[in-house]
Amino acid sequence: MKTLRIGVIGLGIGRWHIEGYKTHPAAEVVAIADPDAARLAELGDKYGIAGRYADAAAMLRKERLDVVSVTTPNKFHKPLTIAALQAGAHVLCEKPMAMNAAEARQMLAAAKKARKRLMINFSFRFTEQSWALKQQVDSGILGEVYFARTIWHRRRGLPGLGGWFGQKALAGGGPLIDLGVHRLDLALWLMGYPKPAWVMGAAYSPIASRLAREQKKKFDVEDLAVGMIQFENGATLEVEASWAANIKERELMETRLLGTDGGLVQRNRNEGYDFEAELYLEKDGCQFDMALHPLVPAVKSSMHHFVEAIVTGKPHIATGEEGATVMVILDAIYESARRGRPIAV
Ligand SMILES: NC(=O)c1ccc[n+]([C@@H]2O[C@H](COP(=O)([O-])OP(=O)(O)OC[C@H]3O[C@@H](n4cnc5c(N)ncnc54)[C@H](O)[C@@H]3O)[C@@H](O)[C@H]2O)c1
Repeated sequence: MKTLRIGVIGLGIGRWHIEGYKTHPAAEVVAIADPDAARLAELGDKYGIAGRYADAAAMLRKERLDVVSVTTPNKFHKPLTIAALQAGAHVLCEKPMAMNAAEARQMLAAAKKARKRLMINFSFRFTEQSWALKQQVDSGILGEVYFARTIWHRRRGLPGLGGWFGQKALAGGGPLIDLGVHRLDLALWLMGYPKPAWVMGAAYSPIASRLAREQKKKFDVEDLAVGMIQFENGATLEVEASWAANIKERELMETRLLGTDGGLVQRNRNEGYDFEAELYLEKDGCQFDMALHPLVPAVKSSMHHFVEAIVTGKPHIATGEEGATVMVILDAIYESARRGRPIAV
């Protein structure tokens, strides 16, 4: 089996990409890029990676890479993804795919032109529970899904107040584009990515803006956003996301689908990053609850999945097209919040 030469740009969550690639025998991370010299040295030494670059453009010029992970702040997803595609690599880009849908479309066009793959790291699909739920939903157990609700709230979980996450020019938005994007993708994936028709949204920032003022930190995005999406097939989906909300839980994640024959929930346990899943069914006038203890092993990681798809020539999931659909919905929620009226997509 040919070994794929892999480069990782951005070494925050990028370190988990390096770990993820390690799970596939056909993957070898040969180069990393980050202007942060300390991170470059730390991870280069830890994983024995020879190619170390302060500048991603230099890495793309000098290394012959088969796959590139783009794991930088959101603002750089588009230019770096396009540069990597043009350099002849398949790209695994972190979520959110881009700052907005217009950028996402440019990335799709670049992938098409280069005839390379583009995958978005919707990592919440790659858990045993999500994997098992997807199999159940695809078997038709829920009947027709007509309503879903997908949420991620934090009591106080602002990522680095004053850093790039809270600045619109670098992040594109707040918790909706950061956390909501994961839950939105999970619900849409389970629902089969129906086509959005109408979106209504609202965004607020009472808590984070106060904290930022008190601490004299830069912050110009929302701390809570909510959206309702109506699809062409008539189904609706509610999405909620916050970094700061007056709730009991430290982290609260839940995705629910309601169908004509059954419902499901996937949620986090103990306010952490451990998940459980249940199905609620009706048969012969009786209601059943089914706790899902996944029997199907999930793929090891999104990186493993991407590499496996490339070496076997099979399609990968979490496509650039799906990433772009998420961006269209996020744009519409923000626009609706700004204008105070529903937006036709
Ligand atoms: N899938 C997930 O579960 C998940 C989790 C966390 C973060 N993310 C996403 O990953 C991305 C990075 O987030 P993070 O938490 O790692 O941020 P971070 O700030 O911790 O790390 C970003 C790194 O990118 C580097 N960087 C900045 N500009 C660069 C450039 N032009 N070229 C190369 N490197 C550059 C920075 O020096 C830094 O080391 C974001 O898009 C975020 O949404 C995804």
